[in-house]
Amino acid sequence: MAIDKKYVDQILKVSEKAALASSYLVGKKDKIAADQAAVDAMRSELNKIDMNGEVVIGEGSLDEAPMLYTGEKLGNKNGPYFDIAVDPLEGTNFAANNLPGATSVIAIAEKGNLFNAPETYMDKIATGPIEKGLLDLDFSLKKNVTNLADFLNKDISSLTACVMDRPRHKKIIDELKQLNINIKLITDGDVLGALYVTNPKYNVDIFLGIGGGPEGVLAASALDAFGCHFQGRFIFDNDKDIKDAKNMGITDLDKKYELNEIIRGDSIFCSTGITTSEMLDGVKIINNKYTSETLVTHKSLKFTKILKRTNLISE
Ligand code: FBP
Repeated sequence: MAIDKKYVDQILKVSEKAALASSYLVGKKDKIAADQAAVDAMRSELNKIDMNGEVVIGEGSLDEAPMLYTGEKLGNKNGPYFDIAVDPLEGTNFAANNLPGATSVIAIAEKGNLFNAPETYMDKIATGPIEKGLLDLDFSLKKNVTNLADFLNKDISSLTACVMDRPRHKKIIDELKQLNINIKLITDGDVLGALYVTNPKYNVDIFLGIGGGPEGVLAASALDAFGCHFQGRFIFDNDKDIKDAKNMGITDLDKKYELNEIIRGDSIFCSTGITTSEMLDGVKIINNKYTSETLVTHKSLKFTKILKRTNLISE
């Protein structure tokens, strides 16, 4: 069933309010405070919505996070049942240091349709719309980029791959260099990193590498509405993560998750810029108003747009 369009406005407001709250702490060198402000605002807005919401991806388990913890019930219990995935402040370093790319992120789907991801790393691959089976985490990097170049009818050396700048990606980065592929390194924020594949104007053909699992699910929620490709595999490399995964019912620890196993049915996704990035302008406050930009998707309506809005701060 489709999610009622009225929820787009409400989830958009949740995302905008979280971004606004965090924006007051941009450049204050305190990522915990910037995150907390976004969490508080997001939670308070979510609780105003006519829904029976449950956090499936949030700030961690109840013992790690008192607010927006996995399993927390949100909304006024007067409406449909939703799964909710949140990252109230994605790119805490960006916000603390006033660097481009901090955003607030939220996705909702009908109950049971959004994957409850473990808090581990995830190996990810994202591209624009492609043929099924063309790319795979188990293929060599060379095979993946060659297949993609053939599919896009491009020379391999004209492809651009977005990768997080991390020592764990040395092999990928070295190989991309050898293949003469353009590399776009990002220092944080791999939700936006993956979303650069959604529009040729960002000039990213493929997003690759290991980042947060929850961030992977959030990116997948938006990529689904764009008809893009995403595949992810969680990385369980210590006893605690393996135990947690088993407790969550994950039996195949090496499973590759396709997009339709991460998110199914209808969904709404919103990501509001806190600091300006290539995709989204950051929050600008003038007197009692603020202007912000949000990437909004609503899958069933095939709605994918960046909305710029000015709102009263007190609204
Ligand atoms: P935070 O907003 O929680 O700081 O996460 C930023 C981020 O860059 C994510 O976008 C990414 O998935 C993750 O950190 C990568 O983790 P690590 O910094 O450990 O490589």
